[in-house]
Order: sequence, then C-alpha cells, then structure tokens
Amino acid sequence: MQNPQLFWKPAVAAGPIPDWRRDRKLIGKGSPGGEYFRRDNESLHTIKRRVMKKKKHTFRPESLMMSYGYKPSLSEGAIKSPIFLTSTFVFKSAEEGKAFFEVACGLREKYPDEEPGLIYSRMNNPDLEILEDRLSLWDKSDDCAVFESGMSAITTVLLEFLKPGDLLLHSIPLYGGTDHFIHHFLPKIGVHSVGFTPHQCRKEIEEVLEETGRADQLAMIFIETPANPTNAVIDIECCKKIADKYSNKDKKVYLGVDNTFMGPLWQKPLKHGADFSIYSATKYIGGHSDLIAGACCGSKEVMTRVKSLRTLLGNMASPHTGWMLMRSLETLKVRMEKQAKNARRIAEYLNEHPKVEKVYYLGLLKPGTRAYEIFERQYTSTGAMISFDIKGGEAEAFRFINALQLIKLAVSLGGTESLVEHPASMTHAGVDKEHLKEVSVTDKLVRLSIGVEYYKDLIWDIEQALDEV
Ligand SMILES: Cc1ncc(COP(=O)(O)O)c(C=O)c1O
Repeated sequence: MQNPQLFWKPAVAAGPIPDWRRDRKLIGKGSPGGEYFRRDNESLHTIKRRVMKKKKHTFRPESLMMSYGYKPSLSEGAIKSPIFLTSTFVFKSAEEGKAFFEVACGLREKYPDEEPGLIYSRMNNPDLEILEDRLSLWDKSDDCAVFESGMSAITTVLLEFLKPGDLLLHSIPLYGGTDHFIHHFLPKIGVHSVGFTPHQCRKEIEEVLEETGRADQLAMIFIETPANPTNAVIDIECCKKIADKYSNKDKKVYLGVDNTFMGPLWQKPLKHGADFSIYSATKYIGGHSDLIAGACCGSKEVMTRVKSLRTLLGNMASPHTGWMLMRSLETLKVRMEKQAKNARRIAEYLNEHPKVEKVYYLGLLKPGTRAYEIFERQYTSTGAMISFDIKGGEAEAFRFINALQLIKLAVSLGGTESLVEHPASMTHAGVDKEHLKEVSVTDKLVRLSIGVEYYKDLIWDIEQALDEV
C-alpha cells in the first residue's frame, strides 16, 4: 500500500538557492497540485518549514477516493482509471516474466523498490489493485482483497483459516448465507461450530465454548456486528480477548468481523483487534444496487493467504466491477452520511407510532446499558438500518410492506434507494427458528434500509402504509 501522505520529494537545496531560482522560481516538481514555487522574499528556513508542514499532512480517505493509487501518466493522462479488460499482461522480457512469477509464487521476497508485476487478471489487475489500495485506507489495513461477492469473501476466509477438526465460534444471528455455509457446508469438511447471542457476556460465551468439549480446537471467531437484522451489537474487543485466551504458541485463533452494516465508515474492526474486516461490497460500498461484490481487509500476513486462495478459487471481482466500485467509493461518505441522517428521523417517527411495538435502531440504545457502552466504544454513527416490530404478526407486517409506494420491497441494503423486507420469511428463512426466536427475529419484524431520498417523502410513505394495517 502506498503511503497516503504526500509522496513527492521537495527539491529544497540544503545550501543557498542558486540565483536563477530566486524570486518565484520553481524549486521543486511533482507535488499533487503541480509545481511548487518559492514565494516572494521567503527565506530558505521558511520554505523548509512550509514544505515540511505540507509533507506531514495526511489526507482523509474521502479526499483520496478520486485519485489514490492511480497514475494518469500510465493511461494516456486519463483522469480516471480505464477498465482494464484484459485477461493477461505482456512482459517486456523473459527475465521480467521470471521475476514477476518469483514474487507471485512466493519463491523470494520483493526487492525494496520492486513493484509486483502484472501477470494475469485472476492474480491481479490494475482496477482491482487501485480499488484494494483505496479500500485499505478506510480500514487502515496493510492490504485488501476484492471478491465477486460478499459470500465469496466470507467463504474464502473461512476455508483458508479452518481445517478438519477445528471449531468455529460465531455470533447469532448471522446473514442467512453465512449461517447456511457454517451449518451445512463446514460440517462436510469436519469443521464444527457453536454460536452465542449478543446478550451473552464473556463468561457466558466461554461457558458455551467449554460445553462443546472442543474448546482447545477453537480456530476462529466470526461475528456480525451490528447483527442483521436486529442491530444487536457485539463487543469486538471482548471477542479478541477470548481469541487470545485460546491461542497458544502453536495456534493463533483468528477473529473475523462481517463489517457490512457499518463499514467502512463507522466501525473499524481491525482497530479493536480483529484480523479481518469483511464486506458484502454489494451493500454500502457499491451503494447503488447495481453490482455484487465482496472485500476483505487485514494485515499483510493474513491477506497473503487470503489472496493465494482467491487466486486458486478464481473468485476475484471482475475489472468492470472493480471500476464500478471505484466510482462508488467517490461518494461513499456523502451517501452514508445522508442515509444515516434520514434513518435517525425515520427511527424517531416509528418510535412514536401507535402501531409500532419496538424499534431496533442504534440511536435508541439506552445509556447505562452494556449495548450502549459497546456502541460508544465501537461506532461513530447510529447507521442507516432500522428494524421494528409491528403490532400483530406476519399478516400485519405483510399488509404494511405491500402498501408501501416509494420504498421498494427487496432484500439487500445500503443502496441509494430505501428498501423494506421481512427477515423471518426472506433473508433469514433458512436460519434455525429457535435461534431466530432467541434473538427477536419473529414474524412481526420488518427491516428497513434507508436511502438518500427526501426524508419527509419516506415518512409520508411509512405513515400511509401503517394506516393500511
Ligand atoms: C451482513 C451480510 N453479510 C454478507 C452478505 C453476503 O453478501 P453478497 O450478497 O454480496 O454475497 C450479506 C448479503 O445480504 C449480508 O447482509
């Protein structure tokens, strides 16, 4: 990953500036804004201070989403990266090809200034590399890998870090696809699993683990926080302590966080000790409901393994999807902030409505509770996902959903348009019913993903649909 600080080297001479450079003459080249000039009557000392001050500045990720990691000079000066629709890349010489493969196959480490070479689009492609560098900025990770779906990111991580006989500890509820993979695929390769709910504290989680009789085989903890669809929060730092407790000199217990609901803006799992921050990039990162993609961020050590398996499974995102995601990243912050602002108003409205029994929204957590304490430590926004129990059951929920005019009935979330769905019969239909009941996913639960529309239009729509119930 490139250093996000300014990467140009100011050509300030150590000694006096030669006459021909005095008085607004060019003294350096290559700054992001073009040339760097000496100002009138500026002493060498002042120039140095000014330059050093500039050099130290670190741009925020949102300022870098339009340009970071892309060199226009390598693409005819195009301001935006082209879509590199190519399967393979031409080597300048056989020696170069050999050197690229030596690094790619892990036969040797890169030399200090050596750039990894482009070989074949299943291994690397400029659109994916630039995108991965940009996503790494949000999570402050060494590296990132993008996938053709969120499920391929999740399953690749689980397959790489679990082996027959291992135990996986996971939070409940999980997204239906993840839940199905853990309970119906992993047992086929001899991987066991056990779940815990967000209400359980560290002691209770460790009891759940010990009761399996396989605690010493614990290899990974995988959590989804806030949980889909109830917004229940799980303490990442507490999970890290459990992972450390069950790690030993021969075995590290890894911690993965599905960061789809709040990332990459409002929750930074790596900062709290997680090894992987994983995304369905189909959601907020893509943000327009027009693509399917996934991503995983982490340290160099874990990402080398993740990327190796991705190369073998061939489940990387396509260059076209990579390009679409780069475009989406340019507006990520403004979209998500607007969505969160809308969600707050809608949650407040729902919370007062007589036909609504309970609202599951981070902004309504009560100070003094454990969930609130975790929220304060782990999140920087109340997010844009809201679920609520309608008074009644499935019939009332369906009547409300069918009466909506502006909000569309579809699964998925995080897009610019607001969506509604019924988790118990849709996204979570395949999840064990007992597990769902334990975590309040019942027939009366409705989930809303709030978009960027005018909030009063959304409230009008919700109001008229509730009137029909
Ligand atoms: C929280 C969460 N994780 C993972 C996934 C899977 O992502 P994808 O559909 O991109 O494969 C989803 C999909 O809805 C999700 O909601």
